[in-house]
Amino acid sequence: MTTKPRLNICVTCTYSAADGKSEPRDGKVLFDQMKSACENRDVPFDLHPAECLTNCKSGCSVALNGAGKWGYVYGNVDAQTMIDDLCELATKYAESENGIVAWRERPDSLRRNVIARIPPLD
Ligand code: FES
Repeated sequence: MTTKPRLNICVTCTYSAADGKSEPRDGKVLFDQMKSACENRDVPFDLHPAECLTNCKSGCSVALNGAGKWGYVYGNVDAQTMIDDLCELATKYAESENGIVAWRERPDSLRRNVIARIPPLD
């Protein structure tokens, strides 16, 4: 059995420290919006909530990972305007051989949001 690549969404993020820690957190809103957007689609990735990706100063954060794939951390993801783009990016990531989605292939809104990439295990 192969497992799908994962889109991990930090549910404890806030857009900025100035936003404080009001509930629901912006990251939880992002997670819920993505969950709703993916519900009726046959997406090639699994959605997982995460608590802190240690990228707290860069808005809402997500991480893509999967077997044999480079891992990517993205920041400054906006739940109001980037749901479709995040879905597109995660789909391209899942469908890629090694997790690398070329810069020009990424949705415009996410091209400059890569915080880090992590080599695959194998
Ligand atoms: S709270 Fe989301 S990265 Fe730390």
